[in-house]
Amino acid sequence: MAENLFFPKDGCKADIYEAIIPQISALTLHETDRTASLANVVAILKEALNHFWIGFYIHKGGDELVLNVFQGPLACSRIRRGKGVCGAVWSKAETIIVDDVELFDGHIACSTTSKSEIVVPLINKGVVVGVLDIDSDSYATFDSIDRDYLEAISKIITDNCF
Ligand code: SME
Repeated sequence: MAENLFFPKDGCKADIYEAIIPQISALTLHETDRTASLANVVAILKEALNHFWIGFYIHKGGDELVLNVFQGPLACSRIRRGKGVCGAVWSKAETIIVDDVELFDGHIACSTTSKSEIVVPLINKGVVVGVLDIDSDSYATFDSIDRDYLEAISKIITDNCF
């Protein structure tokens, strides 16, 4: 069965998010393998938004997030609580948008190409179970539109995959 993604190729990003969210919901609703679902979510975001790095870090116990499925250049495997943007999002349980990664105290630079970043927590029953991390090779790429839609996507993921 063909699994083609449908989204407006020259639409604004809100239109793109509106188009992909139902497809993310449908793809993850009945899939029981979390890796399969997260891999497809990353693939959808990459194809539709085409940012430099898109991936998940997941909490599997202890004081660290562990790298999970992603698209983009290689990245650090583990991030401790409170460290970097991802670790700060884990501690605060809220989304962080960074317009210039060099100005974020403690930012973990997996690639010098990354210039701005948004990290959204995956919250399941009040507990942060992981984060969705998206890096851009341009400054100030992300805004409240990204935050609102990515938080909606995060909720779909935690409802369907955790
Ligand atoms: N920059 C992140 C680390 C992960 S990479 O961007 C893929 C951070 O500071 O937590």
